[in-house]
Amino acid sequence: MYSDIVMDHFTNPRNVGEIEDADAVGQVGNPKCGDIMKMYFKIEDNIIVDVKFKTFGCGSAIASSSMATEMVKGKTVEEALALSNYEVAKELDGLPPAKMHCSLLAEQAIKSAIFEYSKKHNLHYKELEGFNPSEEEDHHDLGEEE
Ligand code: FES
Repeated sequence: MYSDIVMDHFTNPRNVGEIEDADAVGQVGNPKCGDIMKMYFKIEDNIIVDVKFKTFGCGSAIASSSMATEMVKGKTVEEALALSNYEVAKELDGLPPAKMHCSLLAEQAIKSAIFEYSKKHNLHYKELEGFNPSEEEDHHDLGEEE
């Protein structure tokens, strides 16, 4: 049911923890299952130099956050914002359809952290146009359809 990559990231998740002096912190929750994901970013010159996460959730959410943090580390803020949960799931060698919403939590945690960062620094990212952390439930519904 789960790929070897999913199992690897679930049993040995990368970048677990928190960053005390993080430049951006995002937290999202899935209202359906109650799982929560928190991500911390260290950003220098628009590059994500470090990222950590804490996930109180299912195995797919843990594997997704582990993979997503690996994928955005060293990338620009814009590149991180462009990362979709489908790309995360693809890198994991797939997730069962019923678990796609778990990968969406990772995408949303990244966007939520950078959303806070953009507000703090008065920055504008076109990738965040229309992003509203309080509308997570709608996004989750979308994510489950694939
Ligand atoms: Fe809640 Fe996977 S079941 S995030």
